[in-house]
Amino acid sequence: MEWEGGPRFTLTRALPPGATAAALAADVAEGLARAPKELPPRWFYDARGSELFEEITTLPEYYPTRAEQEILTRHAAEIVRPTGARTLVELGSGSSAKTRLLLDALPEDLLYVPVDVSPSALEAAGRLLLAERPRLRVHAMVADFERGLETPASPGPRLVAFLGGTIGNLLPAERARFLRRLRARLEPGDALLLGTDLVKDPAVLVAAYDDARGVTARFNKNVLRVLARELGADCDPDDFDHVAVWDPGREWIEMRLRARTALTVKVPALEASFDFRAGEELRTEISAKFRLAGLAGELTACGWRPARSWTDTGGRFALTLAFPAG
Ligand code: SAH
Ligand code: AVI
Repeated sequence: MEWEGGPRFTLTRALPPGATAAALAADVAEGLARAPKELPPRWFYDARGSELFEEITTLPEYYPTRAEQEILTRHAAEIVRPTGARTLVELGSGSSAKTRLLLDALPEDLLYVPVDVSPSALEAAGRLLLAERPRLRVHAMVADFERGLETPASPGPRLVAFLGGTIGNLLPAERARFLRRLRARLEPGDALLLGTDLVKDPAVLVAAYDDARGVTARFNKNVLRVLARELGADCDPDDFDHVAVWDPGREWIEMRLRARTALTVKVPALEASFDFRAGEELRTEISAKFRLAGLAGELTACGWRPARSWTDTGGRFALTLAFPAG
């Protein structure tokens, strides 16, 4: 689809009509029937969820965005130099706010390919970027980066950026599959820039996911509004508490929704209902935290050659540049 932004903006919907609703229905049918109950985190991000995430990035407790921004502010030129990139593909691009720091270090006539499940985020980000940068071309893709990633024909070398620590929202097996698939799609000379949040004091981590103003709680409960709107589910956000816990063994934060009382969620679109015991929890997200040595090992095992990592001065967050191995 060509858009009113003119020939410099294209938006492709890689998900066929109905695919999103069908995927949500399948995830709910499977995830709420399971013990313990769980849902994948991509369902947070309707227009309201994307806005709530942006609000999270401004919270005093939520340090990852500021830490990654610090790294990019200091090192963007050094990071992009060895890539020689002419196309920047960004997975889970959201508002593309930090991307500006990469764009400043890349050629002005770059092709930027933001990929996100949130059309509202892609449209808003695309409009702003094109207004700011007269030579940039944007080909936005409404797509699920986990389910087959068909990016448009684009000049190489390509730099694929996956910022924000979003890779930590994948379970370890999903993460390995994702890294292998991405590797298989890239050409020699392309590169990956991967943002990862690092293991740190659990009190700092838990506060980042359970902020005093309750914005993260609203973000977490937003998935219930999505279920109500898309599938007619009769779930009331006030029937659940927001929970954020640190799992020291698996080194990840879990966000959960805990039923305040015994209740049943009817889902007419599935002709199904799901019982919650009082206190029963639904896992809505994991957010894995990394150690640099472990990350390098994972990348290597998945066909990548990690070249260099940069951290912020507080050692809270890392950006790693990696190239396809072999
Ligand atoms: N990169 C931005 C936004 C991170 S929020 C930053 O660093 O601030 C995570 C983003 O990933 C959201 O915009 C969300 O819509 C998108 N997202 C989540 N799961 C996705 C999936 N499976 N496929 C594509 N985009 C996804
Ligand atoms: C997008 N992702 C990296 C965020 C995170 O920190 O795991 C999502 C988020 N969940 C709660 N707060 C922010």
